[in-house]
This record gives sequence, C-alpha cells and structure tokens, in this order.
Amino acid sequence: MASSAKAAAPKAAATKKPAAAPKAAARSNGKSTASANTGKGAGTNAAVDIQPVLNQQNHAPAPTQRYGTVSQRLPIGLDEKTRQQSVDGLNQLLADTITLRDMYKKHHWQVVGPTFYQLHLLYDKHYEEQSTLVDAIAERIQILGGVAVAMAHDVAELSSIPRVPRDREEAPVQVSRLLDGHQRLLKNCHDYADKADENGDDGTNDLIVSQLIRTNEMQVWFVSEHVVDSPLIQAK
Ligand SMILES: [Fe+2]
Repeated sequence: MASSAKAAAPKAAATKKPAAAPKAAARSNGKSTASANTGKGAGTNAAVDIQPVLNQQNHAPAPTQRYGTVSQRLPIGLDEKTRQQSVDGLNQLLADTITLRDMYKKHHWQVVGPTFYQLHLLYDKHYEEQSTLVDAIAERIQILGGVAVAMAHDVAELSSIPRVPRDREEAPVQVSRLLDGHQRLLKNCHDYADKADENGDDGTNDLIVSQLIRTNEMQVWFVSEHVVDSPLIQAK
C-alpha cells in the first residue's frame, strides 16, 4: 500500500505543472537536457535511464561488399570462420536451387504427352516451392553477412547441376533430369548441414534440414512416382 501511494504522488504533481517546467528547471540547475528527460525515477530506476547510443556509424552497412566476403555487422553470435563456411555452402545450394527451380519452369512449359496436364501442374507447384527456398537461402546468406549469388550467368557458373539443353525433351527425360538435380542438391544439403552443425550455426542447419531437405525429398517422391514400368497392353 505504501509503495503504491508513493508512486501515485509524483503523477499527481506532474499533472499540475506544464510540460515545459521541469526542463526549464533542469537548465537553471545546470543539468543537461538529457538528464532532465530521465524523469522522476532517475537514479533509482534503471529502466528510465536508458538512452539511445548515437553516432554508431562504424556499425552501418558498407555500401559495397565483394562477393565471397563476410561482414560481422549483425550481432548473431557466430564467428567469421563459421559465417564464411556457411555462406560458401549456402551460395552453392542457392545456385543449385535456382537452377532446379528454372528447370521446373522449362519443363512446365515444354512438357507434352499423355501426362501433360498432371506434369504441367506438378512442375509449376514445385517451381513455386523452389522459389520460396531461393528466397530463404538468399536471406540467410545476408543475415550471415555474406553476398548472395543472384544473376543467371553467375548461377550457371556455380551450379553443380549439369546444363540442360534448350530443346524440348520427352517427359521421361525431364523427370530423369529433375531427379538427378534433386539428388545432387540433396547430397550437398547433407554435407553443409553437417558442417553447420559442427560449427554451431544452428540457424543454417535448421534451414537446410527443415526446409531444403524436407521440401526436396517430398518433391523427389512426387516426381519419382511417375517413373513406372508401363507394359504395353494389346487391346482387343
Ligand atoms: Fe504456367
């Protein structure tokens, strides 16, 4: 009871005075404006003594940054070596994921045959899911202080998925190429997830395991089930 009465008293006093009065009083006492702003609890309540730390220009993002380097600007509790290894691995996964995403769209457009409709829709669904992964990987690279690979020519140079011809190919060939691409990507995912785990980069490990591996394994399942032995049937 005594403490609530104490807390109420300054409020009542404050409402009686105009807002400018305490500042003026502080200046006349030779105190700074900043200390006047700390209010009634100054010196007794640490919460009201919090002031912004100004002039932190040394922590501002550099306007340019070379690809392949990492900055330590964001305080995420990871050392430079860990960040660098995670960024290198993630850029590889990013290039592979962009390539696989674009392969899905190519096949979405070019597929023909008796399975046209289902493959046309399935390819586009997987394209959208790969697009989501692309963004998640690229943003993780930025959080780690790296530079995400982005443009087609750089992606083509970095990707571990072999170049796909411009020509239209049969549906079984499309499926084979996609499964090969998924497998290459997934092998890289397992390697880089292990490395991130060893380094204590839990965020990168979680991204690779929970999003990349899960999504790619699910897509492998859906695409693989189109690979069946279909004996020819003689109609009478
Ligand atoms: Fe479409």
